[in-house]
Amino acid sequence: MTCTGCRRVKKRFTGVTLWTVLCCVGQLCSAMSTSTETDDLVDPPPDLTNVTWAHGCNSKEQLREAIQNDTINMIEADIVLGTVKGGSNISLPIMAHPPDNTSDISLEEFLNTALEFHDVSKGIKLDFKSTQAFEASIDLLERAFQDRPLYIPIWINADIMGGPGARDRQHVDPNLFLSTCSSKFPMATISVGWTTMFGTTDDRYTPEDIDRMTEILAKNCIIQPVTFAVRAAFAANSRGVLTSLIKGSSDTTTLTIWASSRGDIVDMDELRALISDVGKDRVYLDLLPDVYESFKSATGNVLSSYRTNKLLCHLDPDIFI
Ligand SMILES: *[C@@H]1O[C@H](CO)[C@@H](O)[C@H](O)[C@H]1NC(C)=O
Ligand SMILES: *[C@@H]1O[C@H](CO)[C@@H](O)[C@H](O)[C@H]1NC(C)=O
Ligand SMILES: *[C@@H]1O[C@H](CO)[C@@H](O)[C@H](O)[C@H]1NC(C)=O
Ligand SMILES: *[C@@H]1O[C@H](CO)[C@@H](O)[C@H](O)[C@H]1NC(C)=O
Repeated sequence: MTCTGCRRVKKRFTGVTLWTVLCCVGQLCSAMSTSTETDDLVDPPPDLTNVTWAHGCNSKEQLREAIQNDTINMIEADIVLGTVKGGSNISLPIMAHPPDNTSDISLEEFLNTALEFHDVSKGIKLDFKSTQAFEASIDLLERAFQDRPLYIPIWINADIMGGPGARDRQHVDPNLFLSTCSSKFPMATISVGWTTMFGTTDDRYTPEDIDRMTEILAKNCIIQPVTFAVRAAFAANSRGVLTSLIKGSSDTTTLTIWASSRGDIVDMDELRALISDVGKDRVYLDLLPDVYESFKSATGNVLSSYRTNKLLCHLDPDIFI
């Protein structure tokens, strides 16, 4: 890949070094991994599982706390169409998770606040919950990103196809999402996922799920960094396909394993094995705080007390399976 005018940015998160290389050729931008950088001889590969998340920062208060908290690296928030509490009744992109459709903060205010503090090295992940919410946000995002020097990680996320437990559920239009991200937000990491619904413990990402996703990415000529957002419970059951997905993709491709529902049952041993197979330099963990702690603890077995003889872990410590 030929890159002229490359801008390399090194972001030092608490205890983690993340490299972002943005290579821009006119309008065509791409990102390359740093594996070819000579600095790698001195810097060990980053451990992306050390990146910490503030999940669901959908209010002014949560956003402020996340900005102020030095241990948080990435701020995650959801966008739906709705109304701002106490504001007009005009529908606009706001920070909320369905089924909520009101919030005390609009996407515009969120971006103004979050990007104003770019010096504190926090990345943002914007999770668009519907095609309409994404469409209504495009101009706003363009303006917000244009006005500022962007050397913080920006992730744009959407579930763009049906997945485990929810293959027929509505998702964000994949072609609109991908073509917009590549043409208007080439500096962003594209985060794509499948709609999911937790039902049975043996649901998984099938080879067909993976193929449909990689086909649509290829069709839209996506060359910027991509992260595949996968739900922990199903990712643990899909070690083979997810490992070959990441190993078979470019160096900038990563997995983001998420868990935000306490009802999920996760095979922790399989999840650990998946992370080990894929490599910690290719996996982000956006998990419930207690689950995350168990991964990061020295012994790594904080959850063992929740385990059943099936070695399954219910994420809610209060409810045993
Ligand atoms: C990641 O965190 C672990 C402790 O959880 C630490 O031992 C390791 O050095 C960290 N890795 C990097 C690259 O910062
Ligand atoms: C900062 O975030 C960490 C990780 O989520 C959390 O454990 C801690 O309580 C937070 N600190 C404050 C002051 O909110
Ligand atoms: C918000 O949800 C309520 C209840 O589902 C609905 O009546 C209302 O029209 C929605 N408002 C907007 C702006 O979408
Ligand atoms: C929005 O507010 C205006 C004036 O306050 C009112 O006339 C209109 O009916 C409202 N629309 C909805 C959908 O509530």
